[in-house]
Amino acid sequence: MILQQSVSLKPYNTFGIDAKCHYFVQLQQRDDVEKWVAMQQQSHNSFFILGGGSNVVFHQWIEKSVVKVSLRGIETVKEDAVHVWIKAAAGEIWSNFVTFCIEIGWGGVENLTDIPGTVGAAPVQNVGAYGVEAKDVIETVECIEIATGQWKKLTNAKCQFGYRDSIFKQAFKNQYIITAVTFRLTKKPNLQLSYGGISSRLEREGIEQPTIADVSRVVHSLRINKLPDPALIGSAGSFFKNPIVTHDKHAVLLQHYPDLVAFPLAKSFKIAAGWLIEQCGWKGKQFGRVGVYPQQALVLYNLGGCTGEEVRQLANAIQQSVKAKFDIDLEPEAIFIE
Ligand code: EPU
Repeated sequence: MILQQSVSLKPYNTFGIDAKCHYFVQLQQRDDVEKWVAMQQQSHNSFFILGGGSNVVFHQWIEKSVVKVSLRGIETVKEDAVHVWIKAAAGEIWSNFVTFCIEIGWGGVENLTDIPGTVGAAPVQNVGAYGVEAKDVIETVECIEIATGQWKKLTNAKCQFGYRDSIFKQAFKNQYIITAVTFRLTKKPNLQLSYGGISSRLEREGIEQPTIADVSRVVHSLRINKLPDPALIGSAGSFFKNPIVTHDKHAVLLQHYPDLVAFPLAKSFKIAAGWLIEQCGWKGKQFGRVGVYPQQALVLYNLGGCTGEEVRQLANAIQQSVKAKFDIDLEPEAIFIE
């Protein structure tokens, strides 16, 4: 366990915000996790568990202890003729894990190529892209209850996964530390190509029988055209969730806006938040050191040295104008940490 005081969080959040925290704790092995949990039970300090920092906006000075889960390791747990079960430690970088699976030829996470963050953060907000969500491949989540020090292995059903949601954002919020995730992957590809232009891109390339490596490559190229490269530009990916509205609300919207971008769900519609934000005139706008990404209005990005407060002000202004024009509440996907 590494304990530090007065640490800059700039390397630990993909927005690149140069906030500082009083106490920074790095948990590097299972033993560290148990030790920190025991310390926490004595001190009851307020804390924030940090994964890859790809979904957070830090305020300038964080009073809470920031606890970074840095456990590493990927292992095969079991396999049969069709599936393979892989356990990855929470601190593994998600995209490294995806690359590892693709190089071996195990399918299931190829659509989730290039998502920033760590393996341990994936179940918390059930990361998703191009028609696949982490919940589709997660078998179990290993975690420790902070109040009791008890280890638990939650099944997929127990995690209560939803759109960018899970029990770890609801009833278990701030009560557990995730240390590892076991995924069930396929030995023979079961490709999901219908979403977001994957199949049309493959057709254009003349690829009739794509491999998981082909799909991963296409997802990579679709993403670099729309989303900022995390190595060059600070952002938190999609800043807001796509709002879900009723059939009635959708019908009313469609009357006023025939070019509305919406996807039907079982009993509702998911509206493209990027479209709503663009319609309000925000796309490509810059405000001081923070902007709305020119290729994807759902992404707020750092023009260099922005603060959490600047991001919050822009996010609030966007929410207000979407509310005023469409009567829709946009919910941030990113979380603000004070
Ligand atoms: N659109 C616009 N203007 C914009 C952006 C989008 O009109 O500025 C419309 C377009 O019609 C576009 C549609 O919205 O076709 C959907 O956009 P896109 O395919 O980029 O997907 P998204 O719904 O904006 C979601 C995820 C992304 C994920 C993509 C691809 C959420 C909040 N975001 O974005 O996830 O990569 O689908 O599957 O669900 C993330 O969570 O950080 C993230 C990047």
